[in-house]
Amino acid sequence: TWTMEHFIDEKVEEIRKNVGDRKVLCALSGGVDSSVAAALVHKAIGDQLYCVFVDHGLLRKGEADEVVKTFRDQFNMNFIKVDAKDRFLNKLEGVSDPEKKRKIIGNEFIYVFEEEANKLKDISYLVQGTLYTDIIESGTETAQTIKSHHNVGGLPERMMFDLIEPLNTLFKDEVRRLGTELGLPDAIVWRQPFPGPGLGIRVLGNITEEKLEIVRESDAILREEIKKAGLDKDIWQYFTVLPDIKSVGVMGDARTYDYCLAIRAVTSVDGMTSDWARIPWDVLGKISTRIVNEVDHVNRVVYDVTSKPPATIEWE
Ligand code: XMP
Repeated sequence: TWTMEHFIDEKVEEIRKNVGDRKVLCALSGGVDSSVAAALVHKAIGDQLYCVFVDHGLLRKGEADEVVKTFRDQFNMNFIKVDAKDRFLNKLEGVSDPEKKRKIIGNEFIYVFEEEANKLKDISYLVQGTLYTDIIESGTETAQTIKSHHNVGGLPERMMFDLIEPLNTLFKDEVRRLGTELGLPDAIVWRQPFPGPGLGIRVLGNITEEKLEIVRESDAILREEIKKAGLDKDIWQYFTVLPDIKSVGVMGDARTYDYCLAIRAVTSVDGMTSDWARIPWDVLGKISTRIVNEVDHVNRVVYDVTSKPPATIEWE
């Protein structure tokens, strides 16, 4: 019968046998899939695994620290953190079109990752957190753990690797169980889906440090209150968005003219369709009060009550 320990033992043995004494590279995003894949491969080959974590400055509050704490301090991995915030923000300066932002962030990510891969030299394998569902969706692939000389989605032709895809027989819930079994913290194992371009597409229009800070701080308050209310595992995604709107408010005796902030929270099975989450009004009220009191330059909070379709989950 299939058990988690049996699965781990089998994969560890298979990876060891295939990799031998060669070097393996992994791009860690902090997401569930790449994190669990890295932890499993690390169990198999230890210091032969090199993890590269690109911090593009568009992550949520505390997220980069969590990744560093887990992989560098707890797992003691060969862990390379690239602080690329300035690079990304420079490239994004003055850009307001959502698809252009996505493209810039995606391309820059590949440049940074490739630079690090070239510095490491003699890398033979790349770890990918591909799940069984990803394989079914693409239709053509087979569920071998090791695939030779494969072009990875998004990476340029010149970056060909042999792939290790240790999760490609698993569903998401099994990946979460595996992650817990391997000792990953709940913050990573139960992380809600988070887009690659990160907060870059939650600051609508052009991105500035000040706007990112507003989204980061308000998002942290939202997450804290949703967790306190015990709703964190029922809601598919919950986050704040900064539309490029200022409106009038009043604080004490003074009139204010500051940002309006939106809360988006949805229930969903796969992200393809979604409904807005029926968060109790009192919880919404508390979140709103805290955001206006604690986050500078926000004087109004609104709740998005649109399903998908017709709206998308993200605002950009
Ligand atoms: P939408 O906004 O299209 O989002 O309803 C559906 C799901 O996809 C995520 N999303 C992205 N993920 N890169 C990603 O990796 C992206 O550019 C991107 N855009 C949206 C979104 O968070 C939701 O889970």
